[in-house]
Amino acid sequence: MEQTFIMIKPDGVQRGLVGEIIGRFEKKGFTLKGLKLITVDRPFAEKHYADLSAKPFFNGLVEYIISGPVVAMVWEGKNVVTTGRKIIGATNPAESAPGTIRGDYAIDIGRNVIHGSDAVESARKEIALWFPEGIAEWKSSLHPWIY
Ligand code: PPS
Repeated sequence: MEQTFIMIKPDGVQRGLVGEIIGRFEKKGFTLKGLKLITVDRPFAEKHYADLSAKPFFNGLVEYIISGPVVAMVWEGKNVVTTGRKIIGATNPAESAPGTIRGDYAIDIGRNVIHGSDAVESARKEIALWFPEGIAEWKSSLHPWIY
């Protein structure tokens, strides 16, 4: 079953949006397979965003991510990478549709509350980076009322 990496960024944690965000993924029917509150250091954040190192906003993005604890999660389910990105909404909150997380809770691209893997392969890499200890095994992920 497909998995994705989702991170609630420091602004989302400090604004008290953790429960709301987890609720949206849970109510959709996805399965929570990993969860931790963690403050990452600069080298770790630079590794997570390594593909963006040439971008002018890279340093600001890294500063933002290390500015406080984040909630790192693994969610599982059919098409969870693509559907998760739809639940999150467009990267720039100015373009995120109402009803998406960023559309409902964010204004500025530099404070856009949440990250979600953009492809199955990047999800695999991000899960390995953030959860080297592994993730939970549970038997109810093929819930008969959802699939
Ligand atoms: S790009 O330029 O197309 O590669 O970037 P994009 O895919 O739109 O976004 C990749 C991540 O960079 C963040 N981002 C920014 N952060 C701060 N300031 C600015 N201007 C900015 N532009 C993009 C964006 O939120 C993405 O972060 P994640 O955590 O992956 O959502």
